[in-house]
Formats: sequence, C-alpha cells, structure tokens
Amino acid sequence: MYRSHTCGELRISDTEKTVTLAGWVQRVRKMGGMTFVDIRDRYGITQLVFNEEANAALNEEANRLGREWVIQVTGTVNERYSKNQNMPTGDIEIIVSEMNVLNASDTPPFTIEDNSDGGDDLRMKYRYLDLRRACVRKNLELRHKMCIEVRNYLSNLGFLEVETPMLIGSTPEGARDFVVPSRMNKGQFYALPQSPQTLKQLLMVAGFDRYFQIVKCFRDEDLRADRQPEFTQIDCEMSFVTQEDIIQTFEGMAKHLFKTLRGVELEGPFLRMPWAEAMRRFGSDKPDMRFGMEFVELMDTLKLGTFPVFDDAAYIGGIVAPGCAAYTRKQMDQLTEWVKRPQIGAKGLVYARVQEDGSVKSSVDKFYTPEQLIALKEKMQANPGDLMLILCGSDAMKTRKQLCELRLEMGQRLGLRDKNKFALLWVTEFPMFEWSDEEQRLMAMHHPFTHPMDEDIPMLDTKPEDVRADAYDMVCNGIEVGGGSIRIHDPKLQAKMFEILGFTPEKAQEQFGFLMNAFKFGAPPHGGLAYGLDRWVSIFAGLDSIRDCIAFPKNNSGRDVMLDAPSAIDDKQLDELCLKIDIKE
Ligand code: AMO
Repeated sequence: MYRSHTCGELRISDTEKTVTLAGWVQRVRKMGGMTFVDIRDRYGITQLVFNEEANAALNEEANRLGREWVIQVTGTVNERYSKNQNMPTGDIEIIVSEMNVLNASDTPPFTIEDNSDGGDDLRMKYRYLDLRRACVRKNLELRHKMCIEVRNYLSNLGFLEVETPMLIGSTPEGARDFVVPSRMNKGQFYALPQSPQTLKQLLMVAGFDRYFQIVKCFRDEDLRADRQPEFTQIDCEMSFVTQEDIIQTFEGMAKHLFKTLRGVELEGPFLRMPWAEAMRRFGSDKPDMRFGMEFVELMDTLKLGTFPVFDDAAYIGGIVAPGCAAYTRKQMDQLTEWVKRPQIGAKGLVYARVQEDGSVKSSVDKFYTPEQLIALKEKMQANPGDLMLILCGSDAMKTRKQLCELRLEMGQRLGLRDKNKFALLWVTEFPMFEWSDEEQRLMAMHHPFTHPMDEDIPMLDTKPEDVRADAYDMVCNGIEVGGGSIRIHDPKLQAKMFEILGFTPEKAQEQFGFLMNAFKFGAPPHGGLAYGLDRWVSIFAGLDSIRDCIAFPKNNSGRDVMLDAPSAIDDKQLDELCLKIDIKE
C-alpha cells in the first residue's frame, strides 16, 4: 500500500497518528534548519516538515526535491503552530521520518498554481500538467457530479440509457460532418454523428418510450467560446408526449441540477418567450435576461427626413445605458469603433446623453430640434445621467443582431452579467425554415424532423416561411443550453418537409429512407431535447469557455496541440483507403 491517507484528508483529530502519504511536490521552502514541503494530490495539499536537527540526511534529501517530483513519506501528524485557515488540512503538518522518491520530474513549463504563469497554448500542449491545477480539476469533478445527477434524475423517471453508434451516415444538424473512410467498403465513408437524432427517433419506433444518452457529438463548424468540434450532449427522447410534457420534464431536470450542484432553488415555471418576441425585444434567440436594456424601436421617432443616414433604414433601434451619460468623447469614439468592427459590422453609432437638467445632448443635435430629442428621451424612458445608444440599418434582422451585441457589451461593462445570477427561459415558436443565401433554398432552422405547429400546417404550401415549428430552446444567461422539438411521425408529412427543403423524392429516400421506412411501421408521436453538457458545466462553474470543463479540448483552430492532431497519415494507410490527397491552395 502506497499511502494510508490522501493529501486532503488529515485534520486536527488525526494528531499523533503515524501516516503515509504519496503525491507531487508543490513547493519546497527552507527556513533555517527546517524544510517545509507541500505535497499535493487530487484531494488536496498537506504540509510536510523536515528538521535538520532530528535527521540531517533526510533534511538534505528534502532540499534536493524539485517541483512535481513524486514522493512517498511516512511521519507523525502534528498540530501546526501557525495554522492556515485557507486550506482544509491547514491545522496540521506531518513531521516526516521516512521519504521515498518515487519519480523525479523535469521542471514544469509553467507553475501548477491556480494563477499559473503559463499561456493558453503552453497549457494546452501540456494539458496533463494543466489538469493538475486544482481550478481545472474542480471543473471535471463538477462534470462528473453532473453526469451522476443527470443519470439519477432521468433513471428515476424511467428513462433508459442506450448507446447509439458513432460510425453512421450523415445526420443533418446544420453543420458539416466529420467523415471516416471505410477500408472494407472502398470509396465509402461513415459520418460521425452531429447528434443521435435519427437513431433516437428509431428507438421510439422500437417502443423504448423514454431514452437518454450522455453522448459525444461531432460538428465541423467554426469554433467559439461555447463550441467545440466534439462536445457532449445529454440527449433525450420521449414517446406519447406534447411540448408541455417535455418542457415540464426538462425544466425539472434543470431545477434538480441547480439544487443538487449549486444549492440554488429556481422558483416557479421558467419564462417562455416566442422567438419573434425575443428578436424584437433583444435581437437574439438566446436573450441574456439577467438585465434589462430592452430595445426601443425608433423608426417613428427618428426617421423624420432630417438626418440622411436614417433615410434608407429598415430598422432604427436603441438601448438605454443607465448612468453612462458621463462617457467622455474618447470613450464614445472607442464604442463607435467597437460597433464598426467587422465582427459587429454596424456603420456607425448615434448617441444621446440625458443631462442633469433633463435636456438632451446628442451626436445628431444638428439634425433634430431640442423638442424632437426630448421626444426621443421620453420614448426611450431615459433618465438624467443615462446614455441612449442608437443603431440603424437597411436590413432589420442584421441591425437587431448588431444592437444585441452592443447590449451585451454594455451589460458586461456595467457589471450586469453576474456569473452568480441565473436567468433561464424557454424560447418557443421558432420559424420552421430560414432562407439560405449560400444554398439558395429554405433550410430547416432546427432539423428536418421537426413538427410544424399544428395551426400552421395549412401554410406549408402557401407561406412556408411563416410556418412556426413545435420547437423550443432552453436559454441560460444568454447561452443556448438545450434545444428540441416535437417530431414528425407521419411519413407523408415527413416527405412533404423534405420536398420543401428541396430534396427530390429519390434524394430523400437515399439519405433518409431508413427513417421514412421505419415510420411505416407504427411510429408513435414523439419528441425530445438535447442539453449541451459542456455548456451546463461551464455555466455552473462560471467559466468563460467550455474548453475549461473538457479534459482534452481542441484549440480555436480545431487542433489538439498536445496530440498534434489532426495530422497527415502515411501513404500505406492512404492506399488501403483508396485515398489521394490533392490540396488546392
Ligand atoms: P442542437 O443542435 O440544438 O439540437 O444541439 C443541442 C445542444 O447541444 C449543444 N451544442 C454544442 N455544445 C458545444 N459545442 C457545439 N459545437 C455544440 N453544438 C450544440 C447546445 C445545444 O443547445 N438533435 C437535436 C436535439 C433534439 O432535437 O432533440 C440537436 O442536436 O447546448
């Protein structure tokens, strides 16, 4: 046995016990004839004491230890003279009588501390060292606990966890597939699942009634703080349910997770907001409801023919930044540059300050009378000391999205996006389709298996772009944490959907024949949802990026810098797979 206790375990009640610990050297400090060594493992840190007077050779050996060496020590637990309230083992220390060096270590490329001196790239390259840091390890511990709570909650409701294959055909979720060439079926490829969507629907046809799976999904899409090319879903499906049943079940799960993992009781039913309302009030289908700053539409108030910039505007809208009237000219110029960055893409920013006496001073004073500016203040319900920020554009949807970015930025600057506050809501009634300029056709906004809202079915032939889907997303603090829908279970309606999406009957049969055939054999009404596990964990842990709760994540270019993947494969492998590489720059 290497150890009698872990490095996080010993307390004052263990004083006088003889113990053996094993772990990594965090720190060595020499003070006169004494050497203090902090020994660390997954469970914590314990202080070891070596005394030159008591054992000169052992003390000498302790002085030779380097950071991250692996040691085993035996000694007696002693009450500390000066206690450290910041660590659970801070009341005691071990007076070491024996030490065994189990392994030496090179000097680590960065400090293994919560405030490490290592940059992102370096820490990713040596991720196994990064994972030794308590702050990173804690996120994985939380992830583990969340998986257990998810399994408990769903198992108690009769959900069965069923594994579905990773080597499958394409599953359209709006991203590109990662593909895997087949050696045995030359020239053919598997696709890794973007989600187990069609398979879970087949499990409903098979009568499984309630399915879930904590499952890896793969999407070849541009990365962001809340996106990884491989990520984990809590994927669920239920038979004989309405949207209301699903919302109740998964709202219950969110509440269960908050209670068990964060000790937070979320009260009452979550807010529900139709998509169109979310876009109008916040310019986003995932509004951050921790703060207000709702959009105010200003077409009638400002498009008066006096300010040429507004002449071709299809949308003029503004937000009120409370207490920001004191922003200097320089700060306003910086904010203007910020909205003009390509990532936001606004043409400019109009602003107006409400002075202490209630009058308004704006960047467009030349174009409006003082009365018109007072009318603006009243329309926006701005108070003395407030700053009104206004954007316009010829594409209403684009302009709303730009204003949404500005709202989030101002919320951030004003400290309104508190990580310890949680604002959850369901966004419902999504449009069924969205127009793709790239593909020049309607695309499914969620996926092609989503049921339209019953009352909108008659519009499928006449006005498909106005049809709403029986779909819902759960949003927490401006992040889409889950999404789902009631599915089509009628083969005729499914065939119609494929037709609207531009599939020929042959193409639909080729790609989704298996599903349409299955639907001929008594498919029950069904629906479901998938939560993003990584996103939930990162919200609970207050992280800025989901990367920090994934053991071995990819960087922003989709690379694993530790494994150096992706990488070229050798000619023999290419030959076996009948592949030729032809890179066109
Ligand atoms: P959707 O595509 O909305 O739905 O995905 C469900 C949830 O998965 C998470 N998610 C991601 N997390 C990290 N990185 C990514 N690249 C990523 N993409 C998605 C989000 C999202 O809400 N089959 C449907 C679900 C259903 O209809 O039942 C689906 O996959 O939190």
